[in-house]
Amino acid sequence: MYQEAIEQAVAHYRELLLSQVDRAEKMNNAQAPEKKDKTVIGIVGGDGIGPIIVAQAQRALEALLQDEIKAGKIELRSIEGLTLENRMAVGKAVPDDVLAAIKECDVLLKGPTTTPSGGTMESANVTLRRELDLYANIRPACVPEEGIDWMFFRENTEGEYTLGSKGIELPGLLTMDFKVTTVAGTRRIARAAFEFAKKNGKTHLSVVTKSNIMKKTDGMFSAICHEVAQDYPDIQVDEYFIDIMSANLLKPSLRSTFQVILLPNLYGDIITDEAAQIQGGVGTAGSANTGDRYAMFEAIHGSAPRVIARGMGDYANPESIMRAAVMLLQHIGMPDKAARLAAAIDQANVNAPITGTREGCTCAQFGDAVIAAL
Ligand code: IPM
Ligand code: MG
Repeated sequence: MYQEAIEQAVAHYRELLLSQVDRAEKMNNAQAPEKKDKTVIGIVGGDGIGPIIVAQAQRALEALLQDEIKAGKIELRSIEGLTLENRMAVGKAVPDDVLAAIKECDVLLKGPTTTPSGGTMESANVTLRRELDLYANIRPACVPEEGIDWMFFRENTEGEYTLGSKGIELPGLLTMDFKVTTVAGTRRIARAAFEFAKKNGKTHLSVVTKSNIMKKTDGMFSAICHEVAQDYPDIQVDEYFIDIMSANLLKPSLRSTFQVILLPNLYGDIITDEAAQIQGGVGTAGSANTGDRYAMFEAIHGSAPRVIARGMGDYANPESIMRAAVMLLQHIGMPDKAARLAAAIDQANVNAPITGTREGCTCAQFGDAVIAAL
């Protein structure tokens, strides 16, 4: 009775498999990008609270980079059009003209974008991560008073995300999604995590999977991480399943021992929200998406439509996107300016605390406090 639907699904699956073979082969043949004299930083507002919080981070970058901007070494370029209305109107997660403008930049500071649930429209984030090949999602979480200083290296272009909008449905009977892990995709995120550990004097790296259940994909992810580890004999490597790791992040006797945590896409998505909450909430956490050619810096949270609906957009907390701007400055080789911005954010948290209520400061007042502290 489902014969026709099954035939269609099999044909669809064949197309998916071929597309993934193609992607894997492209990764194997990747070339190093050329170096440039000028860095273009694209500023993308996004939806909901996005433009409100991004505006404050932009002010901070303008203040910190004024000399470089004057000298023509750095350009801050606003990229319009990555809004839900515009995306719905053209029926694309990232409209072609917006993507072309983004590809003219080197790094992006991007506000959150709303993903329509249901339907087939992909998240703009997922599209951008794929189009710009941003394979490393790097997310810190720190609680200095508890000795917590974690750096998550989340694989960012494959796993459950690659084909997340391309599953199969036999209506009324079943649905099926696919998880894809490639050798090259795993090797490059593992390499990025171990290199970070080595360069930053970290001695402990934890690989996190669910390889007891996802035997092929996570099994291979784990095996490749251990293979890459051979090149880093000074780093102690252990492995946890994602369920117990989620518990361990809450376990007082263990949590401060973790340093670098390396994991596939979806587990990384989930556990970095947990880590951000431990740090003080998702509103406090920035994140980097890096590849060999491009990098994109963003808050780890979404566009907060409920905050906008309550008329509280002006009270949104820009800390997360400002922390992302700190990571951007580190990425473009300006660790001193990054440290200045980080210190100014800490100061603003004291001088202009945001509570998410009308009793607290506004997003713009927080921005003023950051500028004053710079
Ligand atoms: C994140 C977000 C995204 C993700 C969404 C917006 C697609 O939750 O960056 O963690 O799932 O990766
Ligand atoms: Mg997430």
